[in-house]
Amino acid sequence: MSEFPYERLRRFPDVEASNLQAHDATDLLLVDRGLDLAADRGLTGAEIVVIGDGYGAITLALMDAGMAGLRVHQDLATGRRALAHNAAALGLVRTPDGDGVSAEAEPGRAASHPESGTRFVPHELDAELLTGARLVLLQLPKALAELEEIADAVARWAADDVVLVAGGRVKHMTLAQNDVLTRSFARVQAQRAERKSRLIIADGPRDVPETPPFPVRETHVLTAFAEPVEVTLAAHGGAFAGARIDIGTRVLLDVLDRVPSAGVVLDLGCGTGALAAVYALTHPDARVIATDRSAAAVASARATMAADGIADRVQVTHDDAGSELPDASADVVLLNPPFHLGTSVHTAAATRLFEAAARLLAPGGELWTVYNSALAYKGELTRLIGPTEQVHRTAKFTVTRSIRA
Ligand SMILES: C[S@@+](CC[C@H](N)C(=O)[O-])C[C@H]1O[C@@H](n2cnc3c(N)ncnc32)[C@H](O)[C@@H]1O
Repeated sequence: MSEFPYERLRRFPDVEASNLQAHDATDLLLVDRGLDLAADRGLTGAEIVVIGDGYGAITLALMDAGMAGLRVHQDLATGRRALAHNAAALGLVRTPDGDGVSAEAEPGRAASHPESGTRFVPHELDAELLTGARLVLLQLPKALAELEEIADAVARWAADDVVLVAGGRVKHMTLAQNDVLTRSFARVQAQRAERKSRLIIADGPRDVPETPPFPVRETHVLTAFAEPVEVTLAAHGGAFAGARIDIGTRVLLDVLDRVPSAGVVLDLGCGTGALAAVYALTHPDARVIATDRSAAAVASARATMAADGIADRVQVTHDDAGSELPDASADVVLLNPPFHLGTSVHTAAATRLFEAAARLLAPGGELWTVYNSALAYKGELTRLIGPTEQVHRTAKFTVTRSIRA
């Protein structure tokens, strides 16, 4: 068992609460097994890749144990920032401005240690992340499609003798995950559960199809407009709802022609970019920005805009709650907020986006939100944004319009 001070890690800038931790038992299992395998096989840090590290626990514990040059992929902008903050707070990397907290390593740019040089290099889920990798430590993602994309990427780009160690909480694991791994690896072995977590070890990467399986694309024809609108959605494995149109999204799309024509329109938490794409297709003069904290969503939304021929008119950014956009810079915000945080129902993630919309909207600007009617967000929207009215309601969903006071 490693002596790394896991309890000192923070989730910041992600939502923090007393019942939410910045590490779990699976992180500890992955680190311990990873260090054992690295020692047995004589691996250097540069041959090790970490994928799905929530807040940096795995990466930082390996660095603390002396592993240098790790390659790391995290999907969430919040996770990337948390890793950088935690690394700096624990003194494991040098920060550019020396204040110890504001470092954020960019994909492909190494974060370095004061004495021992390069310690970890963030990457997107691509060839640079995985080429030559001989050990991949993975926190299992929630979506099977996301696991499928990761397994394909490891089999496609890592070394032939790569060992993939995937871990998760037993209560969230399914046999379907083994099946997905079996499609990319000849040997897949589930280990005995420990501390309510379990590791699956896969090796023997199989041949992969010439074209990567993601993004997938689906074309939809929307009839709730004066003229039918054809939109193609592209989705990477980790994107919300895949290339389908989610039922909540569809309820907001059904009234999208009532959203005013505005200068700058922001799709906050854009997923595959369905709302941004349809708005842009129906408003050729609007400036549209789509932003999401998930890299899989951002890559999907970019592929969506390319498929719909509007990549030059829709800017897609990877950011946490639009934090890099100026105050009062949007005339309209479109929002289909998440209402599950991890696997526990938690409205804090939605509140965070309402607060962001309040900051980003210009006075008189409008927030159009769709949510599960059971959540009764109207009071909160009125308090945080301004006067809020119900525009549309189906058996399950409510669409509201809030005017920024
Ligand atoms: C319910 S999905 C909606 C996606 C898309 N707008 C649609 O309607 O299909 C919510 C999206 O919000 C994103 N999200 C959640 N918290 C976020 C945050 N703090 N900053 C940016 N995006 C966030 C999630 O990654 C997810 O893609």
